[in-house]
Amino acid sequence: MSVIKYWGKRDEKLILAMNESISVTFDPTHLCTTTTVAVSPVFDRDRMWLNGKEMSLSGRRYQNCLREIRARANDVEDETKGIKIAKNDWEKLHVHISSNNNFPTAAGLASSASGFACLVFALAKLMNVQEDNGKLSAIARQGSGSACRSLHGGFVKWVMGKEEDGSDSIAVQLVDEKYWDDLVIIIAVVSSQQKETSSSSGMLQTVETSTLMEYRAKEVVPKRVIEMEEAIKNRDFSTFARLTCAENNQFHAICLDTSPPIFYMNDTSHRIISCVEKWNRSVGTPQAAYTCDAGPNVVLMARDREAATLLLRRLLFHFPPNSTDIDSYVVGDKLILKDAGVQNINDVESLPPPPEIEDDVLNYKYKDEIRYFICTRPGKGAVLLTDESQALLDPETGLPK
Ligand code: DP6
Repeated sequence: MSVIKYWGKRDEKLILAMNESISVTFDPTHLCTTTTVAVSPVFDRDRMWLNGKEMSLSGRRYQNCLREIRARANDVEDETKGIKIAKNDWEKLHVHISSNNNFPTAAGLASSASGFACLVFALAKLMNVQEDNGKLSAIARQGSGSACRSLHGGFVKWVMGKEEDGSDSIAVQLVDEKYWDDLVIIIAVVSSQQKETSSSSGMLQTVETSTLMEYRAKEVVPKRVIEMEEAIKNRDFSTFARLTCAENNQFHAICLDTSPPIFYMNDTSHRIISCVEKWNRSVGTPQAAYTCDAGPNVVLMARDREAATLLLRRLLFHFPPNSTDIDSYVVGDKLILKDAGVQNINDVESLPPPPEIEDDVLNYKYKDEIRYFICTRPGKGAVLLTDESQALLDPETGLPK
C-alpha cells in the first residue's frame, strides 16, 4: 500500500512514473499472492490461471515480463531430478503459471502489485535468473508500476531513474519489515464496490486533463518523499501520519480535478477518515493515519498496539457487524481484537461512544457498510517456497490442482 502515491506516467510503454513513490508491504501471512510456475517440453504454449481460472497472457504487460525474464535466463541443472535445461532452451520452452491470492479477489484488494511482483519473482527462480530484487523490480514495473515496490518487504521507494530505457527506475528497500514493528495496520474492506476506473486509464486521464497534476509531481511530491524517508527512518509517527493523510487527500483531489472526475473514495471512506481525524485532533498527536488507493477501501495505520486497539474499538462502534459472527468480521491478526476487549457481539454492542464525539450525527452507527476488517502489519517481500505440497500446479499434468 502506498503512502506516497504513484499517479501519472511519463512513459506509458515502459511504465515510468512522473514522481517517486513509497509503499509499505503487508504481512504475507494475512495478504499475499502465491504463484507456481512449471516448465515442460510438452507444453505447447504459455498458459496462466488466476485463482483457478484460465486467463489470457496475450496482453503487452505479461508479454513484456515473460520476454525480459527469458532474456536473462541461465542454465538449470538438477541431477537428482534429472533436469537439464540450457540457457538458450528457455526461448523455445513454454511455461504454465498458477497464481492464487489468500484474500478474496472481490474485496478490491487484489491489486496487480502483488500479482506481478510474485510472477516475476517465480519466473526468475524457475529460469535461474541471477539479478537481485532491485533489477527484477524494473521487470515487475513493466507488468504494473506499483508491482516494482512489492518485491521487497518493509518500506520501499520506487526511484524515478534517468535512463531512457527505464533500467534505473527500480524499487529500493528503505527499511525492512522489522524496523518499525510498533506499527499496526487495519484494512477496512468497504461493502459496496462500484465499478471503478482502472488505475492505468485513470492516471492517463489525470495527466491529460488535471491542471494540478504537474504541480503535484514537480513541486509537492519531491519534498514529501524526502520528508517521508526521514520520518520512516526516525520512526516518527506524527510526521508519517501527517504526510500519509495529506498524500491520500491530494491524490483524491487530483482524481477529482480530472475530467471527467474520478471518484474512488465513497461515503464510507469519508466517514472513516472523519472518525480518525476527529480522534487525532482530540488527542493532540496523530494516533492513526489513513490512506485509500483506486477504490473505497481504507488502510489505517496505528501508532502502536495500544492505539490500534483504541482504533478498532472506534471502528466497531461506528461500523458494527451485521451478523453475530465477529470472528469473520475481524480477520488477520486476531490478537488486536482480543486486546481491544472484544470477544463477541455483546462486547461490540456495549462499546461506549468514543469520548471525542459530542454531536449526534457522528454518533450514528452504520451497519452493512463494511464487509470486514483485516488486522495486519508490515511484512516481508517475495520469498521462495520450497514445500512442494504447496504447489498450485499438479506435477504430473502441469495443470492447476
Ligand atoms: C493508486 O500500478 O495499478 O495504487 O502502472 O498502470 O499498472 P499501472 O497502475 P498501478 O497504479 C497504482 C496506483 C495507486 C497508487 C500507488 O500504488 O502508488
